[in-house]
Amino acid sequence: MWEETFKSHTDNKPNGPSSISLDFSLPGVEHVYGIPEHADSLKLKTTDGGDPYRLFNLDVFQYELFNPMALYGAIPVMLSHSAQRTMGIFWLNAAETWVDINYVQGSSETPQTDVRWISESGIIDVFIMLGPTPTDVFSQYASLTGTQAFPPLSALAYHQCRWNYNDQEDVAAVDQGFDEHDIPYDFIWLDIEHTDGKRYFTWDPHKFPQPKDMLQGLMDKRRKMVTIVDPHIKVDSSYKIHNEIRSKGFYVKNKDGGDYEGWCWPGNSGYPDFTNPEMRAWWASMFAYDQYEGSMENMYTWNDMNEPSVFNGPEVTMHKDALHGNWENRDLHNLYGLYVQMATAEGLIERSGGVERPFVLTRAFFAGSQRYGAVWTGDNTAEWEHLKISIPMCLSLGLVGVSFCGADVGGFFKSPSTELLVRWYQTGAYQPFFRAHAHLDTPRREPWLFGPENTALIREAVRQRYALLPYWYQLFYHAHHSGQPVMRPLWVEYPQDTATFSMDDQFLLGEDLLVHPVTEEGGRGVTAYLPGKGEVWFDVHTFQKHNGAQNLYIPVTISSIPVFQRGGSIIPRKARVRRSSSCMEHDPYTLFVALSPKRFAQGELYIDDGHTFNFDKQKQFIHRRLSFANKFITPSWIEKIVILGASKPSKATLKTPGEFFQFIVCSNVSGFHTQVGI
Ligand code: NOJ
Repeated sequence: MWEETFKSHTDNKPNGPSSISLDFSLPGVEHVYGIPEHADSLKLKTTDGGDPYRLFNLDVFQYELFNPMALYGAIPVMLSHSAQRTMGIFWLNAAETWVDINYVQGSSETPQTDVRWISESGIIDVFIMLGPTPTDVFSQYASLTGTQAFPPLSALAYHQCRWNYNDQEDVAAVDQGFDEHDIPYDFIWLDIEHTDGKRYFTWDPHKFPQPKDMLQGLMDKRRKMVTIVDPHIKVDSSYKIHNEIRSKGFYVKNKDGGDYEGWCWPGNSGYPDFTNPEMRAWWASMFAYDQYEGSMENMYTWNDMNEPSVFNGPEVTMHKDALHGNWENRDLHNLYGLYVQMATAEGLIERSGGVERPFVLTRAFFAGSQRYGAVWTGDNTAEWEHLKISIPMCLSLGLVGVSFCGADVGGFFKSPSTELLVRWYQTGAYQPFFRAHAHLDTPRREPWLFGPENTALIREAVRQRYALLPYWYQLFYHAHHSGQPVMRPLWVEYPQDTATFSMDDQFLLGEDLLVHPVTEEGGRGVTAYLPGKGEVWFDVHTFQKHNGAQNLYIPVTISSIPVFQRGGSIIPRKARVRRSSSCMEHDPYTLFVALSPKRFAQGELYIDDGHTFNFDKQKQFIHRRLSFANKFITPSWIEKIVILGASKPSKATLKTPGEFFQFIVCSNVSGFHTQVGI
């Protein structure tokens, strides 16, 4: 136990074999959640008789489903929930960690869950979040680790990615393809092949000779790009980034004091020590426009392989005795990816003089990563089961602070059937981070390559996303403000309804939208559970009304997935879907007012410039509560609406299909100058 040998390397464990552990008994608890990242059900399973859930950031090739094995990220936070109370355990330890769960029948018929946390090193540092409501636990956890970064609005729109878009012409053709097929998109992504020999912060001189022209072309259409910047640095004396990191002594070190080196995409690579604040400051400065040549303000960043991935290391990661200053990787392994994303996000903020909100996607993460951007569930596979698991995987992340989560739409490995691809777009359109991505070896799969009917179906899914962007943005504002998850398990809103405690196939967006994706091949219908006794839910496609607290069979066609709006809510949408979200910036809002049985509804509208920190620093935003009340019936009617203070004549119309009202509130170009009161 004092030594472990991997290939020719021996880990001598200078502090000897060690581990720390603590047991918790949760009386009255039969459901625990969280501790992502695992490809498993939302309700965590008993580990009795099997492996514990493992938290150790790893680059896993073709991960298995319904499995406690470690994946790319680790958040050592577990929530327990019962009809009486929600609480949380935050085990603050970034070393390799294992969690055992045992659902037991305690004495006197009281159910009980026993949980054991074991970490390889460090100290016991535990926070118990007492709730008692889910909302309380979310804000208690947010007070410890911060809230979701408020993304630029465009980052909530659709992202088109693949490994790889080959050259500038390819980018232009794909961009053009979206216009020709009238499908909106906001970001096109470039994977590792865009670089000069996997030297990040550079461009392949033949394939991308004029990056600024390419970015300007996108900017002219109010679109954006993401380029990948991984944290392994090619050991190459003609590469500026490497030379600077080496000369400043910023690389992670071997136990003998030399620079730690491992194998990754560029071949032999060094790994910058992102735990060092000076290294992070230097890294951030590399995103300045004059440092990252060819970059422009509509270019954002993707941090991949930051577990870190080391192809020739034990379990494809860094040796545990590699040194970050005085700390072994063993002690802080799960934090490395967080610091990569932190430094990158800081770089994007700095390059704009502190004005613009960054957008950075990361694969590895830890508690608190929510403060720096988005995460995705890594290299999934184009299979129905992988579409299904995207729901509990993102829900689990949302419960522990990371709202901005998504899965590769279409599946990364292999090729989806057309039906799976369409269903994946329909599901992804209702998940927070909405990006299609595919492996280098897969056939192309831009949305128009599957015949006009399927193009139309994908177009419709993407358009549904764009129409709902005002609501998404508002939900993210709340996630940023108070730590409430965007995508929620039903029990968060219906904490006493035990029927909702183990649901993996449907979810809420905020309080008011319920989504039940179709994840079965050939699915002709789904059984959705509509919660809330006394509540009503409106099908957003047909406006049909259904009563709450029932299992409802809904026949489906391939054209859409069931989505319901809660009676009693008002949801803002934008009806004119354009080329990109920025093109819709000044478009008017449509409010969907779904009445409760008491003929009441309320909602809100949040508007700011969509991309700067001015909402925070200068309080430049509009946040209005909207309500519809019908307390008193009168035979009078509204004859005329007089709007005072508008600079130009404005118009408001009111349509009333049944009980589902649609207000069209018109604004003039410079913002909201009109208010309509009914
Ligand atoms: C692994 C990532 O998970 C995947 O999304 C990416 O395409 C490849 N690395 C290549 O960069």
